[in-house]
Amino acid sequence: NPIPVIAIDGPTASGKGTVASKVAERLGFHLLDSGALYRLTALQALRRGLELRDEHGIAKLAEHLPARFNGDDIFLNNENVTAAIRAEEVGNMASKIAALPTVRQALYGLQLGFRETPGLVADGRDMGTVIFPGAKLKVFLTASVEARAQRRYKQLIDKGFSANMDDLLKDLKERDERDTKRAIAPLVPAEDAHLLDTSNMTAAEAVEQVLAWYAHP
Ligand code: C5P
Repeated sequence: NPIPVIAIDGPTASGKGTVASKVAERLGFHLLDSGALYRLTALQALRRGLELRDEHGIAKLAEHLPARFNGDDIFLNNENVTAAIRAEEVGNMASKIAALPTVRQALYGLQLGFRETPGLVADGRDMGTVIFPGAKLKVFLTASVEARAQRRYKQLIDKGFSANMDDLLKDLKERDERDTKRAIAPLVPAEDAHLLDTSNMTAAEAVEQVLAWYAHP
């Protein structure tokens, strides 16, 4: 497939989302926020009261996900769930259902479909390792857990949610643990990924670095 992909993977609150969306904007590329697909599935599962052990039921939701992306807005059917899917409860459920192989399988084809001309910036955990192993550029974004907790805190407050620093640190550590230790598509850098630690970097600086790597492979 000749359509270029830039894969940006990393842990939660590493700044991936912001960097991926700005890089996409600068290059005029499409954007895949793969975490949103897991969050949308999780939101539906929570609303329907499905339990984690109902893997088949949750995979069915993923397979028939009525997701629609419009600029920065994300819809389930005609409901704008952009804010709702960012709640911590939904993120935690997303990371649990993301460990289910049938759920990952169900979302696989949907993700490939985002690869359209002139190119795609794909943001997630396994973009460079599993979904787009042939990506032209792979970046693994990291930041210290403290820096990430600070960012998540600010994000939540800005969006009008309440937040507690100690709870956030604990949640982040638990989620890192789940994402890196799971058997299927764990959060690990691809062998050919560029590592970028953004603990002491602004989003703008990270964007310039990614664009420079893309321009000068
Ligand atoms: O990136 P975001 O925090 O929105 O992702 C929510 C959850 O979805 C993550 O904690 C992770 O467990 C899961 N995920 C994944 N693979 C991806 C993207 C997200 O397993 N490519």
